[in-house]
Amino acid sequence: MNSQTQIQNSRLPGQGKPLIRALTGQAQTVPPLWLMRQAGRYLPEYRELRQQAGGFLDLVYNPAFAAEVTIQPIRRFGMDAAILFSDILVIPQALGQHLEFREGDGPRLNPIRSAAEMAPLSFANFEKTLSPIYETIRTVRAQLNTEGFSDTALIGFAGAPWTIACYMVDGGGSRDFAETKKWAYGDPDGFGRLIDLITEATAAYLIQQIDHGAEAVQLFDSWAGACDEGLFRRYCIQPAKTIVNLIRASHPDVPIIGFPRQAGRLALDYVQGTGVNAIGIDQMIPTRWAAQSLQPLACVQGNLDPVCLLTGGDAMRDNVQSILDNLAGGPFVFNLGHGIIKETPPDHVAQLVAMVREYSTDKT
Ligand code: CP3
Repeated sequence: MNSQTQIQNSRLPGQGKPLIRALTGQAQTVPPLWLMRQAGRYLPEYRELRQQAGGFLDLVYNPAFAAEVTIQPIRRFGMDAAILFSDILVIPQALGQHLEFREGDGPRLNPIRSAAEMAPLSFANFEKTLSPIYETIRTVRAQLNTEGFSDTALIGFAGAPWTIACYMVDGGGSRDFAETKKWAYGDPDGFGRLIDLITEATAAYLIQQIDHGAEAVQLFDSWAGACDEGLFRRYCIQPAKTIVNLIRASHPDVPIIGFPRQAGRLALDYVQGTGVNAIGIDQMIPTRWAAQSLQPLACVQGNLDPVCLLTGGDAMRDNVQSILDNLAGGPFVFNLGHGIIKETPPDHVAQLVAMVREYSTDKT
């Protein structure tokens, strides 16, 4: 790297941090690691703070508490990235849809199932609702520095439009999101308006997260696997491409991770069609295929089965080894195929971090 590039790079957010290097296409000798849902109920210190806060959303909208929860796993395990503690469903809420988290029952929203039912959605309270989250981001960045985690990057995130629409239309979790799919198949123009609204909101939200200090962003398309090929192209790839382009217009150097869960072979079309810097893969994507087909085009992130982390022992060791052997030679970020399960023993997470850190592509 010549000195000119060094000076330019030193102004870029997060440059030099292992996570950002990997996400921008530089293979690392020891792959950086973070875990989806690394902050959460498997940690006793999280459960304690959540009880103090009251409900889950009270935690999300309290910047001091949310920042503390974001940093908890970093203190314990020293991952290469902290991920903002929040939830993807703050976007429907900021657009005016009623949201509740009931104890043990997951999220509940008042379903919107036609273009006419979209009428109450608006940007009137959007920024005001989300402003505590931006304060959390600023607090986390400052606190990571004062606590000496100067190599730890901060990842911001949002739900992808399709996954957000699934919750907005079905009104909560669902086996197949049939209500959402019925609207998408039956009234593509009306449903397209909902997707466009979410796309606009999501891009604005992620840009603000970056403005306030997020050094990379991840778009969670957790229910991409509920689509067929046509729906996937129209409602997963297209909106993600729009979001990538809107972010790049103001923040060309901030890496963007797309996570179209259960997309199978369409993960390749997603990478090509969206231009993301990195692609999150779930545990069903063969790592050798990912190395051959995806890694030449994007950094790959994944893909240990969360149940394997829950199990621990030899199964975990063998699977971690094979993921590293297949992917660590190129730009790669170690992660799970989906979020940590709440029954996971924290010791297993510590062992996983140690295994990945012991691995080096310099070893023969
Ligand atoms: O990864 C992290 O550590 C950051 C925090 C984070 C949460 N949710 C905290 C959370 C992130 C990135 C999310 C994203 C999210 N939220 C997704 C996409 C990723 C995925 O898991 O597929 C989705 C689909 C949601 C929606 C959501 N939030 C559901 C379905 C639920 C209930 C199910 C559950 O796990 O309880 C939540 C609640 C939620 N989000 C919790 C946490 C820590 C549990 C709330 C609690 O403390 O009771």
